Amino acid sequence: MQANRGEWSSKIGFILAASGSAIGLGNIWRFPYIVGQNGGAAFVVVYLLIVVIIGLPYMLGELALGRTSQKNPVGAIDAITPGSSWKGVGYLGVITGLGILSFYSVIAGWTVGYIFKMLSGHPGSFGSFISDPLQVIILYAFFIVITATIVHGGVSGGIERWSKILMPVLFVLMVGLIIYANSLPGSGKGLEFYLMPDFSKIDGRVILAALGQAFFSLSLGMGLMITYGSYVTKSDDLFSSAGYIVFFDSLIAIMAGLIIFPALFASGLNPEEGAKLVFVVFPELFMKMPAGTIVGAIFFLLLSVAALTSTISLLEVPVAFMVDEKKVPRKKIVWIIAFATFLLGLPSALSQGASEFFTNFAFLPQRLADPDFLSQMSFVFGDFSLAFGALLLSIYIGWIWGAKNAALELAEGSRFFKGFFTVWIFMMRYFIPIVIFIILLNLFGIFD
Ligand code: PFF
Repeated sequence: MQANRGEWSSKIGFILAASGSAIGLGNIWRFPYIVGQNGGAAFVVVYLLIVVIIGLPYMLGELALGRTSQKNPVGAIDAITPGSSWKGVGYLGVITGLGILSFYSVIAGWTVGYIFKMLSGHPGSFGSFISDPLQVIILYAFFIVITATIVHGGVSGGIERWSKILMPVLFVLMVGLIIYANSLPGSGKGLEFYLMPDFSKIDGRVILAALGQAFFSLSLGMGLMITYGSYVTKSDDLFSSAGYIVFFDSLIAIMAGLIIFPALFASGLNPEEGAKLVFVVFPELFMKMPAGTIVGAIFFLLLSVAALTSTISLLEVPVAFMVDEKKVPRKKIVWIIAFATFLLGLPSALSQGASEFFTNFAFLPQRLADPDFLSQMSFVFGDFSLAFGALLLSIYIGWIWGAKNAALELAEGSRFFKGFFTVWIFMMRYFIPIVIFIILLNLFGIFD
């Protein structure tokens, strides 16, 4: 381990921090609305399949690269193949991190706003809330400042401590909400929509959405797991750690659906509502509940914390890059990057009705994303860039660094990985890059 880079204080600390990165708005806000837009239960089946056969093995590849090199994405590639242009993939990851952080923090700001709205007892209309520029920008700025303050504190001091305390609390609250939502009259139809698959609803678009959601939710494709893997010691078992991360992340997403869909059908709302789903359905649910204002405020507080452990990780990637490669002090660069990201996210903050220009921005074809700037950013960085980054990284790991070298790294510290050694090499070299490639072609309408 190089001096002053920092490392996780324990295996469980790493699992919780990486789960903290994975679990966030992607599970509770994004997963349910993507399920709603893509036909319900059949999507859930495709999603879980992709998580297990692509997400998990791919995650191991990123972790192996990180632990071997003990570097950020750019430095890791440069350490293995000095001077090669594959480094560009690392840069793509750094830029993707900034792109996601910008729009993600806007939404995280809304969740903070909803803590206060719930406490006031009158959540009011979501549409008028997000189109109020001043409120939204203040909440957004607040969220970036909190994120930067924690990243400023370094790896194990800041990131680990928060994850350890607050994630279990979120879990318990969600269990309670599942029970409550499913006791409402009319909720059974929601459960059916969510759990009884109709496979005729699956097509190329649905599979792409599942792949994009899997990478986004598991924090894959931009080198986050390279960065977090770089702080893991050699004696840790990466294989079982990745298993836990994938399990926790999927569990929370599935649980979010078990709250949302029953509650939604009980209120007679439409599952295809899109991005505003969570902000409309949850407040309605809370307003019906006894002590709903307090429960609602606690829920949005925990959701904000879940988002925070993800924004911390998003900021950590460019910060680790600047600290390792450009030798700038962590404490200074954190604030510079945070400020630049803040500027980058302003159009997203204004794109929900505050500014007509950004609300109807539409530089992408209509079939790919909604016209507002935030949705367009979400598609470019949250879907396309992660899938493209994962394609290049899987080729790099499988063929350039060599899947065998990666597998040897994974075998170190892991008793169980040995049984998957050959299968994993096949997955990394052939299966994963080919599947991602086909899905990307489909995205550009090649098979239409
Ligand atoms: N996985 C996070 C979520 O589901 O909310 C979002 C995310 C964090 C994506 C970090 C990518 C990343 F590197």
